[in-house]
Parts: sequence; C-alpha cells; structure tokens
Amino acid sequence: MGSSPTLLRAQLYHTPLNPFEQADALQAISDGGLLFEGGRILALGSYSELARAYPQASLLDRRDAVVLPGLIDTHVHYPQIPVIGAMGLRLLEWLKQRTLPEEEKFRDVSYARTQARIFLRQLARNGTTTALVFGAHFSGAMDAFFAEAAGSGLRITSGLVVSDRHLTEALHTTPERAYHESRALLERWHGVGRVRYAVIPRFSLSCSEGLLEVCGQLLRENPDLLFTSHLNETVNEIRTVRELFPWAGDYLETYEHFGLLGSRSVYAHNVYVTDSELSRLAAAQASVSHCPSSNMFIGSGLFSLTRHLQHRVHVALGSDVGGGTGFNLFKEGLMAYQGQMLQHQAGYPLHVTHLLYLATTGGARALALEEEVGDFSPGKQADFVVLRPPVGSTLEATLQHSPSAEASLASIFTLAREESIAEVYVAGKPVWTS
Ligand code: GUN
Ligand code: ZN
Repeated sequence: MGSSPTLLRAQLYHTPLNPFEQADALQAISDGGLLFEGGRILALGSYSELARAYPQASLLDRRDAVVLPGLIDTHVHYPQIPVIGAMGLRLLEWLKQRTLPEEEKFRDVSYARTQARIFLRQLARNGTTTALVFGAHFSGAMDAFFAEAAGSGLRITSGLVVSDRHLTEALHTTPERAYHESRALLERWHGVGRVRYAVIPRFSLSCSEGLLEVCGQLLRENPDLLFTSHLNETVNEIRTVRELFPWAGDYLETYEHFGLLGSRSVYAHNVYVTDSELSRLAAAQASVSHCPSSNMFIGSGLFSLTRHLQHRVHVALGSDVGGGTGFNLFKEGLMAYQGQMLQHQAGYPLHVTHLLYLATTGGARALALEEEVGDFSPGKQADFVVLRPPVGSTLEATLQHSPSAEASLASIFTLAREESIAEVYVAGKPVWTS
C-alpha cells in the first residue's frame, strides 16, 4: 500500500518572500492546511479547501496551535553548552578562562558523545530543525557528533574546527593533520542522511597561513561543502589579527586570500566591518550570521544591520551558544529587534516579519538550502514547529486577545521559549514532542 498524504490543520505563518526587499512578505492563514507526503509539501491553503480536495488525507489536527517553518540556526557551537551564562568576561578572556578549557574535554569521546546528544536535543526542543554547527577540535568528538546528528533527523552541517596557534596546546593541530582528519570526516559523513560537512578554521587569530591554505584546498577539492568562521567580532581580536597578518588590508582578506570567501561562506558576527569588506561579502554572495544575544552578552557591540542591507549582504540569525544565551531563536529575534532599536536612526526598523524571515527563509538561503526548507512553499520539505503556550502562561494570555496575525507573531517572538514548543517535525516526521 502506498503512503497517503497528511493534512496538517493549524494557524500557519511563513515568509515565502523577502521582507527586506518587498512588502507583504508575511503569509498568515488563520485556519490553514498544509498537505505533505513522503516528507515534502504538496499544497498550502485554507484547511476547508484542502480537506475537500484531498478527502483521503490523514488529518493532523493542530487547529489550537500556531505552526511555523522549522527554525534555522546559522551559528551555534556544539562543545559550549556548559559555558552558557559565563558572565563577566569579554571574548578573548571568555575563551581563555571558560570556553577553551571546556572544549579540551572533548578529547574524551564518551564525554563528547553525551554532550552531542544533549546539544541535538536542545536544538530540537527549541524548534531548530536546521543548523550550521561549529564543531569540536577533536576528530573523535566529531565522529561521535556526526553519528548522533545523522540519527537525530535534524539537518546538521558541521565540521572539525581547526587551529594551530594562540589557543591552548591541547586544541592545536598541524596543517597536515587538519587536512587528513577533515578529509576522513567529510568522506565518511558528508551526505549521510541530512548531514553535510563544513570547513571551519576557528578564526584567523588562531590559524597560521599554512592552515588557512589547507582550508582553501579542502574547499577547492570539495566545492559542495560549506565554509564558516568568525569575523570582526571584537576590537581587540581585530587588532591582533592585523598584527598577525600585516599584509592583509582588513580581517576579511585573511580568509579571502586563501579562497575562503564564496556563496557558501557564512561569517559569524561581523560587528566591526568596513564598507570595503561589506562590498566584497556582497559581491561573493556570502552570508553573515547575526548573533545578537552573544554580541550583547560578551559585550562585543551592536550589529550594523542597516549597512549590511545597504550593501546587499545576506544576513541570517545565529544563537552562538555558548557566547549566546541559549538555543531559542525567538529570543535571538527579539534581541535583534532590541539591538536595532538601541541604535536609533542608525538602526534598521525591524518588524516581526523580518524576524521570522531571519530565523527561517533567510537562514535557509545562508546555508544554501533555499530550495529545500525555510517556508511552506509546495515542493519544500515539511519541516515545522507546533507552538502551544503552556496553560496559564503570559503568552497564552497575550495571544487570546491579539488584534492581528502580526501582533500574534510579535508576541511569539517576545515571549515564546522552549516551554511553548509542543512538537517539532522534520520532513513530516516528529523529532521532538513535549
Ligand atoms: N571567536 C573564536 N572562537 C569563538 C567562540 O567560540 N565564540 C565566539 N563568540 N567567538 C569566537
Ligand atoms: Zn561563535
């Protein structure tokens, strides 16, 4: 017997269009239907019309809930969960005192596997169905992570993080070892289930030219991989990068020079960026992962979204756990909004439709998955989040008297946290149920 389609009934919201480029990008269907089969969306519309047209479909009745596309985190670190909330430190001290010592523990594969399971569960329970994950420095830890990721059903892109200076001895590799370990991991895992491989130097500050050269070689040999790293996050870091690469005109050039700037490159932070860097990021069609809670928690600075948009640089959202303050992308959206409000005229006037786009369709584009996920367009994968606020919660009270779809969505970004996420589906199959 062949499978029959499923018809999901719910309040549906998604952003099939880019709200930074056109008006009316939010589509909200109050009694909506989403028809899917074999993991793919067949149709989207009003529930009553789809129920009439597809009487054989099995019903997934969530009419009491809001359903959004699966959320997409474009920058999150797997080995940093215990570091979340490490107060009182700015980036370089935060790395030295708290983060690098924690990451050294990932030499122990059984610790790494346990942390991988916790990490993937936290993504799913926060509604994140797709993520670009900064990995660990140890290939055993990454092998365990990829095995867990492949079994989780989530869409995970990750890779071995490489560095060969200015961290700690235990985390350093060599260009030769980095090449061989990365190659073995990508040959083993890239394309297994929903796993993809990314080349990840930690940041130029911790990489020799020989190591960055090897990263470029891996990308040239495997052009369908992604690339990610940190860029222009804090003033002190940028000063050190300038000293280490005196020939480079700016931070971006330290990557660009080695062939690490392209349409599959995702740079996290980019707080202190020059106009020249923005022009080159745009020309390369690279993406920037804006990580607002991290930028505020580590005290890095306020992100110039307006300048990125003026230069037509593609921007998406990242939680940056553990510099960021948790996995919840609604909270990141709220903090992105607050970060722009604080900049007055220079800030971009974000609306909730922008926030949904940044957390879904915009993330899909950054990760070169725009044909597959991000919204509910027919042909895409049935990845979605079922939101149902806890009984008696502030969000429940707010939604009960919401004047409009936009107001409801704004309440969700303001108040919805993991407790409001009832179910999470990837390709039509549950990956989290509360
Ligand atoms: N730069 C280099 N490593 C890190 C990291 O782990 N977190 C953040 N936020 N920035 C970095
Ligand atoms: Zn980071």
